[in-house]
Amino acid sequence: MRMKDKVALITGAASGMGAATARLFGREGAKMVFVADVLDKEGAEVVDSIVKAGGRAHYLHLDVTNETEWTSVIAAIEREVGGLDVLVNNAGISGSAETDLYDTAAWNRLMGINSTGVFLGMKHGIAAMKKQGRGGSVINLSSISGIVGQGYIHVGYNASKGAVRLITKAGAAQHGRDNIRVNSVHPGLMPPMRTSGRTADPATRAKTLKGVPMGRAGEVDEVAYAILFLASDESSYVTGAELVVDGGWTAV
Ligand SMILES: NC(=O)c1ccc[n+]([C@@H]2O[C@H](COP(=O)([O-])OP(=O)(O)OC[C@H]3O[C@@H](n4cnc5c(N)ncnc54)[C@H](O)[C@@H]3O)[C@@H](O)[C@H]2O)c1
Repeated sequence: MRMKDKVALITGAASGMGAATARLFGREGAKMVFVADVLDKEGAEVVDSIVKAGGRAHYLHLDVTNETEWTSVIAAIEREVGGLDVLVNNAGISGSAETDLYDTAAWNRLMGINSTGVFLGMKHGIAAMKKQGRGGSVINLSSISGIVGQGYIHVGYNASKGAVRLITKAGAAQHGRDNIRVNSVHPGLMPPMRTSGRTADPATRAKTLKGVPMGRAGEVDEVAYAILFLASDESSYVTGAELVVDGGWTAV
């Protein structure tokens, strides 16, 4: 039970890697998994599946760009279970639907959800962890797109994920003495996001795979297990790290 006694909040947990992580935390005995998203129906279904499997979970509506909602969500968690141990800033949108890679509205959307959403999560989540006073772990979902550039997605996706990589290191530098660890996870080619455009196209994916040493896409549980390691006490001396889960994409 690698999540025993831990309260976790996962953003964007109604689907994909967030949902897989929520289910895994549930199976690993988390004291409570707070599933947060803007997709209320799908989020409630994830909670149901965790509870049916014997875990403890609760759904909270949270648009990560909305600071008022962050305040309410953290207050609700403190009321219900007393504090927060693990925050997974996972909510995100893709940059592969736009044809104009310099579209200004898309830039603002990408930076708003992918970067500001993580900033607000760290601001409010870390404050709650400090108040509780027993440390904590923050895991921020970046991407290989936060490490290397790509010619075929909106520049804002790379920029927003690069910001996540460095706000993670700033957080690690600032909160080490509070025993609050902050790490980033960098998935490579995974099942397409809900908002994926060109990168969901099978021909594009097949072309991308030619450059991936392991020659296959990743599965959501393979990322969830990396997040679990960073959330658990097994990673007690790991902070400021960037954990690639990319089949070797960025190794070559
Ligand atoms: N799928 C990939 O290929 C891939 C690769 C590398 C990194 N990532 C990153 O991993 C994370 C999870 O991606 P995924 O593949 O599970 O995608 P997904 O589209 O399946 O899930 C993303 C979730 O975020 C939620 N979300 C979007 N905007 C939100 C907002 N404003 N507030 C709250 N929730 C919001 C969505 O409703 C959705 O449930 C993202 O940050 C993504 O950028 C994905």
